[in-house]
Amino acid sequence: MTARPQAASVREAFHERMHANHMYGLWELASQMTPHPQPKMIAHMWRWSLLESIIKESAEAVPVGDERRALQLFNPGLGGRWATTNNLIAAVQILLPGEVARAHRHTPTAIRFIMEGVGAYTAVDGERVYMAPGDLILTPSWAWHDHGNETNERVIWMDGLDIPLIQSLEAMFFQFYKAPQVPETRPANTSKQLHGHAHLSPTWVKEKPQSSPLLLYSWDRTWEALSALRDHEGSPFDGIALEYRHPQTGGPLLPTMACWVQLLRPGECTMAHRHTGSAVYYVVQGEGATVIDGQRFIWGKGNIIALPPWALHEHANTSSSEDAVLFSIQDTPVLEALGLYYEEVLTENGGHQDVTSTFTPEENRR
Ligand SMILES: [Fe+2]
Ligand SMILES: [Fe+2]
Repeated sequence: MTARPQAASVREAFHERMHANHMYGLWELASQMTPHPQPKMIAHMWRWSLLESIIKESAEAVPVGDERRALQLFNPGLGGRWATTNNLIAAVQILLPGEVARAHRHTPTAIRFIMEGVGAYTAVDGERVYMAPGDLILTPSWAWHDHGNETNERVIWMDGLDIPLIQSLEAMFFQFYKAPQVPETRPANTSKQLHGHAHLSPTWVKEKPQSSPLLLYSWDRTWEALSALRDHEGSPFDGIALEYRHPQTGGPLLPTMACWVQLLRPGECTMAHRHTGSAVYYVVQGEGATVIDGQRFIWGKGNIIALPPWALHEHANTSSSEDAVLFSIQDTPVLEALGLYYEEVLTENGGHQDVTSTFTPEENRR
């Protein structure tokens, strides 16, 4: 009977010595081998009224200096990490008339989805790409870019980047260009002229970059496609959901990020499923609700919602007369490339979750 306490103290001393020498026993870590993903990030929503008021204030309080005036959305579950999901960051950026955001490049890949303002531009590798609401603009990894607004109105867009992923891969490189702007070397919107014709591609262009060579996916084309398909059944989980594609390969438009746009028709309710990979949704138009792991997020135009990996989710357009449109960035290409994409459909309860709470931002304040 006296051997036990002695054995415990011997065990404790052993563990201390092991830890002091930077070793841990697998028996101490077993709980981290979870039976399914248990992300630290949580589902969260930023309302447009809040985003707009803070971004407006930033325009008065913070000049556009070396850094861009972009409001980074931090996930309340990630302990102050620069991350909206485990792999993605979303931000809201404003550029006032006459402003220029200084030219730079970085290994994180970026997309912009234009929320407000016509005629400002992002210049990518010497080509100005002009913006209008609903446009999707790409900034591939390591491409020089600057933003300019020569119009009389403010322009606001959502940025989406793979910064948390690049940080965990320790592959971050960043440089400023030697001048505020990269000289124009190609006519504006060249990439759209070359590659913006769906199934017709220029035969003389031999280069096939990993990221889509089409830098501008215009809203008019996106809406045309959504409208043309509105009478189809679509996906039971996502409605009329379309993925933006690399025009030469047909694959995802960026190696680390997929972009989707989905139309939920008046009154449409989708079924619940879950999958590996995280997403950030931006409500382009309409009103509805997304239930994430039993929590209802009621949204309207301009809201931004973070979806954790392996969280059950289903969407509803709650209007009986208006369309709802969601744009999203997703890290699925990474999961797919690594053979880690898993999906599961909710079969119980008619494919719908029991709603146990409704999201209020205060609940997630930490
Ligand atoms: Fe940038
Ligand atoms: Fe999904």
